[in-house]
Amino acid sequence: MVGFEDLTEGKAKIGVVGLGYVGLPLAVLLSERFRVVGFDKNKSRVAELRRGFDRTREVPEGRLSASAMEFSDDPACLREAGVIIVAIPTPVDADKCPDLEPLCVTSTTVGQNLSPGTVIVYESTVYPGATEEVCVPILEAESGLKWKKDFWVAYSPERVNPGDKTHTIDRVVKIVSGDTPATADLIAQVYGAVIPAGLHRAPDIKTAEAAKIVENVQRDINIALMNELAIIFGRLGLDTGAVLAAAGTKWNFLKFEPGLVGGHCIPVDPYYLTHKAQESGYEPEVILAGRRLNDSMGKYVAEQTVEQIRRVRGAADGAKVLVLGLAFKENVPDLRSSQVPDLCRELEKQGISVYAYDPLAEVGDCLAGTGVCVVDAPETAAPVDAIIVAVRHSAFLDLGMEYFRSLSSDRPVLIDVKGCYSAEEAEEQGIAYWRL
Ligand SMILES: NC(=O)c1ccc[n+]([C@@H]2O[C@H](COP(=O)([O-])OP(=O)(O)OC[C@H]3O[C@@H](n4cnc5c(N)ncnc54)[C@H](O)[C@@H]3O)[C@@H](O)[C@H]2O)c1
Repeated sequence: MVGFEDLTEGKAKIGVVGLGYVGLPLAVLLSERFRVVGFDKNKSRVAELRRGFDRTREVPEGRLSASAMEFSDDPACLREAGVIIVAIPTPVDADKCPDLEPLCVTSTTVGQNLSPGTVIVYESTVYPGATEEVCVPILEAESGLKWKKDFWVAYSPERVNPGDKTHTIDRVVKIVSGDTPATADLIAQVYGAVIPAGLHRAPDIKTAEAAKIVENVQRDINIALMNELAIIFGRLGLDTGAVLAAAGTKWNFLKFEPGLVGGHCIPVDPYYLTHKAQESGYEPEVILAGRRLNDSMGKYVAEQTVEQIRRVRGAADGAKVLVLGLAFKENVPDLRSSQVPDLCRELEKQGISVYAYDPLAEVGDCLAGTGVCVVDAPETAAPVDAIIVAVRHSAFLDLGMEYFRSLSSDRPVLIDVKGCYSAEEAEEQGIAYWRL
């Protein structure tokens, strides 16, 4: 097996496969201590990174340009690597079952370019058992090498939180695990060299795989609970924010808030676990109920918007609505699994004309097949009957009631999904206000 000194002395490189939200920040961090080559199959992404431009905005431009790491779209570059870290997508298919194709394709590529002595570290979120049961057989078949004799595998889940400049990889404890104690030792040394926050050593790979999924299942369920409470309190005429503020004064209260759950982690990873649970003969109840509820929240917000517009205008048909924010969460350009496009579609079904604005998101084709008009500035849509602030982008927080008022000709409706503004101020300005 490659030695830690081989890596620190630059005799062997670290290869990072998949230079997205997870792979790029990790590769840049590692390049400050080791020789690193980043491989991505997306040629335009590689070309942009070579120019020092990261469209995910996770690595500041200066830091990327200053990094000595190499970028390549040729998998042969992995042959010089003693450690290969894999950070490619692990989505679900249309039936919400794990889609392991990217993982298998990548393992094939890595296997075909594997040098004896290499340790392959998987970082992608997978179900317990996937690394050893799915990836290892492919690596063996493609490389002709023998597991635990010629190459070794490890698992270290990524905990990066896109858009979060506080909890960066170096500041979050990293879980490490290996197929043998020696593998775990080596990768603990590698990650330990760049992550001052420290490491947690899981007893085996399966435990580390399960631990990562638990993080996202737990968030999903807690947000689902808050969403259910918001629906109940809405019916009872109670302000959920005020209820949670009061309840939150107890020492053991868990501070979660209602909202739209999107992205490619929280709405996806639970299905990796439920798939394994079902395979084992157990039908998960709580996890799937939470998923269903969170998946329905875009529709719920659309229904509430229609209700508010009806109260003010008498009818929703023919109304004009401006949606502020399309990304799946605040301050990121990422639209994957965002529920805001669903929300827009639901509004359209009610005969509403929908305009959408997001200062960060690359909208692409997420609204294809709809009549939603994506505008370059909110003013372009004015005058509108309702404004939905769907995402808590920092750029929206300074927008005041006078501004919202200026976007509408009559008494506007403000749907404040994340509770960013003051209900009292809105009412004072003659704005009909609603929040989750
Ligand atoms: N983004 C997050 O917040 C986050 C957090 C923790 C864990 N994860 C997990 O990390 C993994 C990666 O997520 P991400 O957000 O970085 O994905 P991403 O889509 O941002 O990036 C993946 C990159 O891999 C590349 N790629 C795909 N297949 C490839 C192949 N066969 N060979 C080479 N490159 C390939 C793509 O071109 C893309 O650039 C997923 O399993 C995800 O669940 C993500």
